[in-house]
Amino acid sequence: IEMSLSHGRFLFFSLVLLSISSSSLAVICDSCEGEDCLADCEGDYCIQTTFNPKWGQRSLIDSKKRVKGCLKNDMIVKGLKPRCDQYSKSGKTEFCICNTKKCTSGQKLDKLKTEKIEKITCECVGAHCKDRNTCEGDVCTYVVDYRIPKKKTITKGCMDLSIPVFERRMIGSCMVPPLTGAMHHENITNVNDLFKIESCICATEKCNKKKPVTTSERELKKIETEKCDFEVIGVTGGKTMRTLKKKCTGEFCYRLNFNSTKGKMEHYDVKGCVTFNNEGAIDPIFSSGNCAEFTGGELDMKMCLKSENDEAMERLEAVVKNNEDESVEAT
Ligand SMILES: *[C@@H]1O[C@H](CO)[C@@H](O)[C@H](O)[C@H]1NC(C)=O
Ligand SMILES: *[C@@H]1O[C@H](CO)[C@@H](O)[C@H](O)[C@H]1NC(C)=O
Repeated sequence: IEMSLSHGRFLFFSLVLLSISSSSLAVICDSCEGEDCLADCEGDYCIQTTFNPKWGQRSLIDSKKRVKGCLKNDMIVKGLKPRCDQYSKSGKTEFCICNTKKCTSGQKLDKLKTEKIEKITCECVGAHCKDRNTCEGDVCTYVVDYRIPKKKTITKGCMDLSIPVFERRMIGSCMVPPLTGAMHHENITNVNDLFKIESCICATEKCNKKKPVTTSERELKKIETEKCDFEVIGVTGGKTMRTLKKKCTGEFCYRLNFNSTKGKMEHYDVKGCVTFNNEGAIDPIFSSGNCAEFTGGELDMKMCLKSENDEAMERLEAVVKNNEDESVEAT
């Protein structure tokens, strides 16, 4: 009796604490795929964006979907100004973020400030280019294929963002394996081949002319101090594809995983290594925190980036600090 009483009190106390902390921090948002949302979620921000996951060249849903949901956790900067990003050419909205109750619902979205964005032109090299040598996308890719021993094959191209916000965190980096299928142009038949595909992405005009991370081998030896788990698991149509478990070396270890109860990709979990460009720039929605989560409709997604190296964290904090004045609301 004694034990259960104190346990009961403790539980009551925790519940009170929990409800205070969540009500003071979180915002209630629409959570769905498509337009008519019946469900809610809670997060630091409401966002609306697109979802079009890929496995190599193949799209895993029939067409690009609109998703509305909640974004949270310490990798996302606090106090971001509400806005929508709209392509100036097509007038299509790519992304909206805001932090008041249900601010991505229906007409409330139209009231958000719109910022114009452009697709960028990238060099295109490889079979996927057909006979073009440039393409347009949200970001440019530079992919090194190490599958044939002693022969690096380089392909380049364009990528449209395929999952909510997380790919943007990798702009200005090279990673193995690629974070998403959209980040390379290879037809992967053996999942273990993903260990041999290095993908780099960048987001300025023709930035994939050369490798986006140009750090010298000598310098890389100093920067790449993290030994990370290296593994990919994908479940599509009830079928599991799983690589071996290995280790890789990078500046940061990363992990992205998602569950989606609808759609052809039910589960995806990728762990690997990433190294950022020394000169660095980071999308202003990101802070130097470790993790970000998105919940929306049938989709739960989480990404974390970690380094035990103080110098890597200092470099990251310097880059984030550069952004602060421009993107964060004065408080
Ligand atoms: C990849 O495979 C698909 C079908 O299996 C094919 O249609 C496509 O042309 C291939 N792409 C490349 C770049 O080889
Ligand atoms: C996805 O499901 C797995 C297994 O149930 C779970 O461990 C993981 O945390 C889930 N991921 C997300 C992002 O919710």
